[in-house]
Amino acid sequence: MSGFQGLILAAGHGSRMKSDTIKVLHPVMGEPMLSLVIDAVREAGVKRPTVVIGHQAEQVREAIGDSVDYVLQCEQRGTGHAVTVAAEAFEGHENVLIMYGDAPMVTGTTLARLMRDHVDSGATATVLTAVVDDPTGLGRVVCNEEGDLVNIVEEADASYAEAAIREINTGMACFSVEGLLEALPDLRPDNAQSEYYLPDVFPLMLERGRKVRTVRAPDPQSVIGVNTRRELAEATAVLRMRILEKWMARGVTIMDPASTWVHPGAEIGPDTVVHPFTTIEGNTRVGSRCSIGPMTHLIDAVVKDSGAIWYSVVCDSRVEECVTVGPFSHLRPGTHLERGAKIGNFAEVKGSRVGERSKIPHHSYVGDADVGAGVNVGAGSVTVNYDGKHKHRTVLEDGAFIGCNSNLIAPISVGRGAFVGAGSTVDDDVPSDSLALARGRQHNKEGWALRRRKDWKEEERNHDDE
Ligand code: UD1
Ligand code: CA
Repeated sequence: MSGFQGLILAAGHGSRMKSDTIKVLHPVMGEPMLSLVIDAVREAGVKRPTVVIGHQAEQVREAIGDSVDYVLQCEQRGTGHAVTVAAEAFEGHENVLIMYGDAPMVTGTTLARLMRDHVDSGATATVLTAVVDDPTGLGRVVCNEEGDLVNIVEEADASYAEAAIREINTGMACFSVEGLLEALPDLRPDNAQSEYYLPDVFPLMLERGRKVRTVRAPDPQSVIGVNTRRELAEATAVLRMRILEKWMARGVTIMDPASTWVHPGAEIGPDTVVHPFTTIEGNTRVGSRCSIGPMTHLIDAVVKDSGAIWYSVVCDSRVEECVTVGPFSHLRPGTHLERGAKIGNFAEVKGSRVGERSKIPHHSYVGDADVGAGVNVGAGSVTVNYDGKHKHRTVLEDGAFIGCNSNLIAPISVGRGAFVGAGSTVDDDVPSDSLALARGRQHNKEGWALRRRKDWKEEERNHDDE
């Protein structure tokens, strides 16, 4: 016998979402709902929960991975049926926590508290309930005069009086495995939906003289399930604020929580200021004393201390200390900006290293390049890295100076301290400390403009005479 097993039901399609995608894979703050539920169950102490899958079983496995066990429920005949099908997963354990895959707002703390409560009271089942303003669609908790649970009645089966009850079943409950296995075979699908309802085990347990307790969640918002797109948006709002509050408590300034999105996997260091309309997504790591935003989107990015990024998009890139980016720049995957580098306006960098203190201040594209330290890439310069079939690399050694509007046709290297004259299209390596000029020579035709204007005047006179 070993402590607690966790079972998460996720086999139903979730028709109220009106989606081709199964409900539990709909993302909340970038994570599938089911992943968030699994995280909470794991945080509560269940190392390897079991997930009951059915609809789109392959997609669920693929999205969630192999850190959980799966049981296949081929036909969805109700939550009680799902638990019966998965019984092997918790046999041999003393207790099991059962919940549904559509409650993404639940925290590990809430579940751990429910589990502790269950063990301490020695009850056969402990049901987490909540009192809500609008119980529509949820199972109502029917109690006797002493306030003890008598039954849970689904909305479709409820009388008017029962439908008026505002205490609902959250779908999260702890069971003694022995008591659950004893009750499950007696479930009958004699209800409005002809399903085997899991909550029907409670009256069966009571009939056998077992103890069934209810525990009320102090914060109903965080234990409610998602059945519709509207509830998906509500869940997202709750989770979003919870994450922002966590970072604010840890010393991050969020200037405008209403327009800021920080995904659950992201991290932000203290004394960083996040300006309005900013999204920090995926496994992004932002250091301390940074200024991020306004209007910035970081996806799987690393931004070390004292960085400043505004009006820009940074994806799958690494930015060392004291780097500035923006406004209006795009760092694409594989970019590595070293300490003190500066990417200015309307620049795009991809698959490139940019060395310490190097500058790409205006209107440039730098792709597949290895840029040394102290390099200056003038306005409008471009690495011509793609020949229509292959990508080629550009090397700009330390201290190179690329004049404005240059085309660097890769593969090419510009040596240490070399200059490329503005407007050059270079396709040969430039030796160190030299100047490459690759542009048409300038000819001045003196007096040309005067002659041109004289011709025009004559033309006008002839025209007027006609
Ligand atoms: C269920 C509860 C209800 C509770 C509510 C809380 C029942 C009968 N009702 O209702 O008391 O208030 O949750 O959100 O349990 N599932 C399976 N296999 C099945 C059927 C469902 O795995 O055969 C899964 C679904 O994928 C879902 C979960 O069980 O994740 C709950 O099913 P759902 O149909 O959403 O139940 P509710 O009607 O919301
Ligand atoms: Ca539900």
